Amino acid sequence: MYTHLQERDAARPPVTVSTLANMKAERQKIACITAYDASFAALVDEAGADVVLVGDSLGMVIQGHNTTVPVTLEDVIYHCKAVSRGLYRPFLMADMPFMTYASPEQALNNAVRLMQEGGAKMVKLEGGASQVAIVEFLANHDIAVCAHLGLKPQSVHKAGGFRVQGRKDDAAEQMRRDAKALEQAGADVVLLECIPSALGAQITAELSVPVIGIGAGPETDGQILVLYDLLDITTGRKPKFSRNFMAGVDSPLQAIKNYVSAVRDQSYPAPEHCF
Ligand code: KIV
Repeated sequence: MYTHLQERDAARPPVTVSTLANMKAERQKIACITAYDASFAALVDEAGADVVLVGDSLGMVIQGHNTTVPVTLEDVIYHCKAVSRGLYRPFLMADMPFMTYASPEQALNNAVRLMQEGGAKMVKLEGGASQVAIVEFLANHDIAVCAHLGLKPQSVHKAGGFRVQGRKDDAAEQMRRDAKALEQAGADVVLLECIPSALGAQITAELSVPVIGIGAGPETDGQILVLYDLLDITTGRKPKFSRNFMAGVDSPLQAIKNYVSAVRDQSYPAPEHCF
């Protein structure tokens, strides 16, 4: 276990925000995956992923809740600590849970805890125009931020379910404006979840910062999947955008490697994974 830690060397420099910006500029696709513990983090690192997210999806895939709403800051810090011990090269991003960034001061205090206690290098928060002030405040304190737009799972009870977002012209237009405003406020990465591919392509082309998609089509600068979905561990109905990378392989490591290759060579997402 953790033998990869002995292999740390300059041939695999850790990914930084600059690496991600260069990958966008050079049109190299960014492969991102969620992880929740040190053992899987080590596999994801070995498989060549660029970014690892300790997502509040842990509320569903680890804790068994129906939504991400019950997840607390302590939960994310706990899993972030474990994941950071298993990682060397990938950039570690952590979700700010529901209502942990309701004011700029609260967001700053909690982002600092995710970084200092959890080992996160970037925090991710859900929101559109209403989060611009929060993103600006964090960015002004030199905290790297990912802004999550489109389907926002923390808003599920207000939105009335998990649905594709931005299908109508006015909603699509609002999302484009929000993405631009969040970039101008200092977001270093934008994440788009469950939106039509054409809108994903448009926002990616309009932003200078890297755009990561999940169910946002093939044109985003990178892709992210929930680890348990790509390993086919998740039970019940699978999201349309997800693919079972365990099919035809005999190890989780090979499945994750195949996911990373498929993102890089753009064979994933295929048309059947898109809206
Ligand atoms: O919590 C999570 O895993 C996420 C991904 C679905 C992007 O936010």
